[in-house]
Amino acid sequence: MNQQKLIDTARMLVAGDKGLLAMDESNPTCNKRFAALGIPQTEEARRAWRELIVTTPGLGECISGAILYDETIRQQKKDGTPFVKVITKSGIISGIKVDSGAKDMAGHPGEKITEGLDGLRDRLAEYFQMGARFAKWRAVIAIGDGIPSRGCIEANAQALARYAALCQEAGIVPVVEPEVLMDGGHTLEQCRKVTEKVLHTVFSHLYTQRVMLEGMLLKPNMVLPGLSCPKQETVDEVADATVRCLKRAVPAAVPGIAFLSGGQSGELASARLNAMNVRFKSRLPWALAFSFARAVQQPALEIWQGKEANVSAAQQALVHRARCNRAARRGEYNAAMERT
Ligand code: 13P
Repeated sequence: MNQQKLIDTARMLVAGDKGLLAMDESNPTCNKRFAALGIPQTEEARRAWRELIVTTPGLGECISGAILYDETIRQQKKDGTPFVKVITKSGIISGIKVDSGAKDMAGHPGEKITEGLDGLRDRLAEYFQMGARFAKWRAVIAIGDGIPSRGCIEANAQALARYAALCQEAGIVPVVEPEVLMDGGHTLEQCRKVTEKVLHTVFSHLYTQRVMLEGMLLKPNMVLPGLSCPKQETVDEVADATVRCLKRAVPAAVPGIAFLSGGQSGELASARLNAMNVRFKSRLPWALAFSFARAVQQPALEIWQGKEANVSAAQQALVHRARCNRAARRGEYNAAMERT
């Protein structure tokens, strides 16, 4: 393992005011989003959508790294240029989702365990050869009646740590993603408590598995009230609760925190990230960045609708959201940006 290379890559991914673009939806997830908009659920449609994304003019000014899916990292533009080459040419680092999904957890009704450790060492070696320099593994934690359980948190945290150790061995920066879901009627305070516990457990396992914290990134949820909770806190209250929770649980050696959007609208995700940077940026040990999928892609997908004629308008919508999030990293995002 070349430790310095891992550190350099991790730092590059959160340098300046850029962030990550998650475009690593598995085929079933991508198909589900296509189906909702009447877009054909075919390999060619998925390829065309990803070509639209990676050829978006100006994307590299806002995006430092793009997370791909196994199908996508092997695909090319219509003219035969591999996507990884297009991405690299835009100054963006290629990443790869390496978990094989969250499955029902035995003995734990309503809870999931993320799988994918078997054969991971070999897959990482292949992805490195293909140009990937960072990876992602997502664990999901639901809040509900009597959950999350200790068994679910521990098992997911250990899997994340074993994945992260294998990544670093392969020269790949692990993005460690424990996602506490927004679904449900829980309060912001309940989300804060669960998120804090999950992060403490994850960092304990990362330590046990000898993961070098300087050569990884954390991809957490923001601390939010459940989607159906009657009390929805303000943007500033969410920013305060999120940063308080992270300060308690994330070691200063971690270079950056890149949030997932988790189903928030693009505008709310930008506003909340902005508020965190406005209020705390100069006093935090780690960068606060983004690693959004839906909050960057969704408006563009709705414009595209699978039609060639809409490509340019969709690309404009995509780069607009990317620019809003770059502004949020600087603490310079405001609602007026949405009207330009
Ligand atoms: P969302 O931003 O849509 O939550 O996706 C981020 C991600 O990569 C989930 O694993």
